[in-house]
Amino acid sequence: MQIISGQLLEFTSDPNLGEEEPYTHITKGALVMNEGRILWRGNSVDLPAEYKSLPVESYPDCLIMPGFIDAHLHFPQYRMIAAFGKDLLDWLNRYTFIEEQRYGDEEIAAAAATFFLDELARNGTTSCLAFSTIHPVALDALFSEAEKRNMALISGKTMMDRNAPKGLMDTATSAYDDSKALIAKWANKGRLGYAVSPRFAVTSTPAQLEAAGALFKEHPDTWMQTHLSENHAEIASVAKDFPDAKDYTDVYDQVGLLGEKALFAHGIHLSERELARLSESGSAIAHCPTSNNFLGSGLFKYQATHKANVKIAFGSDIGGGTSYSMLETMRDAYIVSQLAGERISAFDAFYGSTLGNARVLGLDKQLGTLNTGSYADIIVLDPQATPIMKERHALSQSIHDVLFALMIMGDDRAIKQTYIAGKPQK
Ligand code: GUN
Ligand code: ZN
Repeated sequence: MQIISGQLLEFTSDPNLGEEEPYTHITKGALVMNEGRILWRGNSVDLPAEYKSLPVESYPDCLIMPGFIDAHLHFPQYRMIAAFGKDLLDWLNRYTFIEEQRYGDEEIAAAAATFFLDELARNGTTSCLAFSTIHPVALDALFSEAEKRNMALISGKTMMDRNAPKGLMDTATSAYDDSKALIAKWANKGRLGYAVSPRFAVTSTPAQLEAAGALFKEHPDTWMQTHLSENHAEIASVAKDFPDAKDYTDVYDQVGLLGEKALFAHGIHLSERELARLSESGSAIAHCPTSNNFLGSGLFKYQATHKANVKIAFGSDIGGGTSYSMLETMRDAYIVSQLAGERISAFDAFYGSTLGNARVLGLDKQLGTLNTGSYADIIVLDPQATPIMKERHALSQSIHDVLFALMIMGDDRAIKQTYIAGKPQK
């Protein structure tokens, strides 16, 4: 048992709905952890007598928050982050598909899983929905390492059977069989979750997308992740390959890949019809601003998508994305919203990266809050992490000010501590 004390901050509702104050902020708070879970949290002065003799880790000038959730990134892509590609398809062919072929090697995959999860923790990300590669051994390595850390992580074997090097292709049948076996092995084991993972319509034949749809339908306990409408050349290629589909979204819809547990990365260039269909089906879009900027994919319209009633998650999209930090992801989301002629607030961004992402994943009973009884996935954020942040902080007059400066200037240096299921990661 242990206490951490400082300013407790958690979001309680979607700021965009503008109802009540969307957060709870306790300036002198305490949180008691026991066996990896949150046992009590509240005002320090109200700490029950039985906890008063427990050891205390004190962070008086820091924010103690639920850990960040990254709703879209790629486990095997950290070594080719910052690769000088022209645009999405060029970057995939030139770097990504080369790097991902290495993950058929068990040792490489195991070392990568350790690095990947360490890096997430260093950046305050305590849960994620991640792509792996086509190789079952790579997914085994990732899930094994996450299980060791008692981390809530969702992933799946990537399915791709065309338009890629030989070493990075399966078939419709083998992808179905391998995914099915991996679902049986890993889905809902401890805190792990399985996502049916066709990479995108460019690298899956119609037969493989059908197989993905069948898997998703046969296993209601799984999620579904793929990419959608990120880049104009990608969209044109899908239109050519699927002449009978109404549009890109319809390609996935026709095989049953939309739904409450379906998450589509990017969704930048969608028509009104597509947005309406995503909304109606309860599907979500993962907004990946650092990646969209890096690959020049386009400006995602957060407010317009929100108005269309489509669920929005936030993701780093490593390695198209340029940082593991959800703070840097928020910063780019803000800048993109400015360039798109709209604006998102720090409340939108912090809510989105915590409770918002948990809700999109349907995991808000377990993640994204400081609720008693839930796993202690917690971060300690230092708004004065660097000399210039300290200067800026002196002028902050509200919690929104503090959060806004953190997301514009902050990165891994602002993560003072990360706890996953109560275990400090530093
Ligand atoms: N579309 C299909 N695969 C990928 C990928 O690995 N990264 C990004 N950004 N887009 C994709
Ligand atoms: Zn991606």
